Amino acid sequence: MTARDASGVPDVPDHPTMLAAIRLGCRAPSVHNTQPWRWVFDGARLHLYSDTDRQLSMDPHGRQLMISCGAVLHHVRTVFAAYNWHTDTVRLPDPRQPRHLAAIEFHPWPDPPAEVRARADAIDHRYTDRLPMLRPDGWDDLVPALRRLVAPHGIELDVLDDSVRSRLVAASEQSTALRRYDMLYQSELHWWTGHTNMPEGIPPSSLISEAEFARVGVGRTFPSVPRSMRRDHIQDQACIVLLSSNGDTLREWVHTGEALSAVLLECAAASLSTCALTHITEVSSGRKLLANLVARAGFPQVLLRVGTAPDADEPTPTPRRSLTDVFTEHRD
Ligand SMILES: Cc1cc2nc3c(=O)[nH]c(=O)nc-3n(C[C@H](O)[C@H](O)[C@H](O)COP(=O)(O)O)c2cc1C
Repeated sequence: MTARDASGVPDVPDHPTMLAAIRLGCRAPSVHNTQPWRWVFDGARLHLYSDTDRQLSMDPHGRQLMISCGAVLHHVRTVFAAYNWHTDTVRLPDPRQPRHLAAIEFHPWPDPPAEVRARADAIDHRYTDRLPMLRPDGWDDLVPALRRLVAPHGIELDVLDDSVRSRLVAASEQSTALRRYDMLYQSELHWWTGHTNMPEGIPPSSLISEAEFARVGVGRTFPSVPRSMRRDHIQDQACIVLLSSNGDTLREWVHTGEALSAVLLECAAASLSTCALTHITEVSSGRKLLANLVARAGFPQVLLRVGTAPDADEPTPTPRRSLTDVFTEHRD
């Protein structure tokens, strides 16, 4: 139940706080930066809906759309916590409305843990880093914390052994080869990447050249940018992490996105670079390979490269849609 003040008015964040929290939370990652979400505040509760007009054809069941929405749900809740609001969340509150992903009620929370504030502060610094990375600093100490963050979502986190890297490179190449002549996949990829001055999609500044990609190996093949040799002394040494769920339902996809967001923000708070990868889990042979690598009966969802960037420069942030496109408010 939403808390109410003495006059019975719901105790909820004021208008400027609401706008600031949604704006910052929508810095969340999403597949191809599609931002497939809509937020509605009804005066007492905040609701998250998926925007299925933004579902990709390469994502026929909406799995990555739901993971993206889970990521924005976790981002927004993290920001509200940092603004001293606890959020009670019911996921998929109405089984007849699968697009209604969450209903959130607010309670004042004067003393959120310092780690939550650190993750909220990290939102503006996190970005998808597709370049080669150094081994992640402080990794062994961080992994138990990452496992603690994903556990409440029912998600397993496995760190893949370096010895399987060549198999991941092969699976990565196979996922590219399987879609090389898939015109729908290719045209969609080109539509969402490489353009400037758009409020969505992946701009050229976030993409890498073929020479840079050759030193990473495990990555989605995007239209490449020409003649660039950043981090030219580095062969990728990122640690590769797999997030898996026990089932493959809408609810588990939302939880995967929330767990993904928690891991990305915790890594960013520890000054580590990250890159989420789903191209291998888009093809059934890739999913099978990953399940075998970790010897789990569950469902591989997202791979992540985590490493240390040798340069401190953060690139220009990827664009986001305007708040008016993603947020509606009805206060009486
Ligand atoms: C579900 C999901 C799948 C993604 N898959 C990939 C991928 O396969 N390869 C990749 O380089 N980035 C992938 N990303 C990262 C997005 O492209 C990135 O979040 C988006 O372009 C916004 O950029 P930013 O993370 O730098 O803010 C994925 C992100 C999510 C949430």
